[in-house]
Amino acid sequence: MKITFYGHASLGIEVGGKHIIVDPFITGNPQASEIDINTLKADYILLTHAHGDHVLDVEAIAKNTDAVIVSNAEITSYYATLGFKAHPMNHGGSWKFDFGKVKYVNAIHSSSFPNGSYGGNPGGFVIEGEHKNIYIAGDTALSMDMKLIPMRTKLDLAILPIGNNFTMDVEDAIIASDFLECDKILGYHFDTFGYIEINHDEAIRKFFDKGKDLMLLKIGESIEL
Ligand code: NI
Ligand code: MN
Repeated sequence: MKITFYGHASLGIEVGGKHIIVDPFITGNPQASEIDINTLKADYILLTHAHGDHVLDVEAIAKNTDAVIVSNAEITSYYATLGFKAHPMNHGGSWKFDFGKVKYVNAIHSSSFPNGSYGGNPGGFVIEGEHKNIYIAGDTALSMDMKLIPMRTKLDLAILPIGNNFTMDVEDAIIASDFLECDKILGYHFDTFGYIEINHDEAIRKFFDKGKDLMLLKIGESIEL
């Protein structure tokens, strides 16, 4: 499984021979100006919630790629009405796709589209690939529900928001990684706006002091699991 960071909460995942884009917000992020969304491959687009900083480039990428949009039922019906392919899910449900199993799990946040349309309840994703399992938290507070995830899935990587203000901060993300029983963390949702700027060295050291590995990728950088 290969994971590429496209800035903010945007990810590319290659798994089981398929390409997945998560929460694309690229053209609106000056820090991601090196990324050309027209070159992105996508068989699926996974959306955690409907906020603009997670869905901005969905329509452009879906038009280019004919990707299937996977999210909660309200978000997928919004895009289905616009003529896009969509696979609706809801909290606690999972589905075996051709690249692996996806479960839509709880997040504590909100979820309206930029135009005010209802975006259902926000979530995160557990992806069980052929060899590795990951959790993408989406925008969320620290939640006791995170303890449920390792009861079903042994995680190899947790992708957690660490920027504070709109989501967990670093200290809460450390507790989240305890709940998730996963010491390998990819941080996201930081530095994009003034509200969520963090000190990278300090964040990495705080995780390190608890015996955990926080990775912060440069935009466009990838890791292989
Ligand atoms: Ni949000
Ligand atoms: Mn956000």
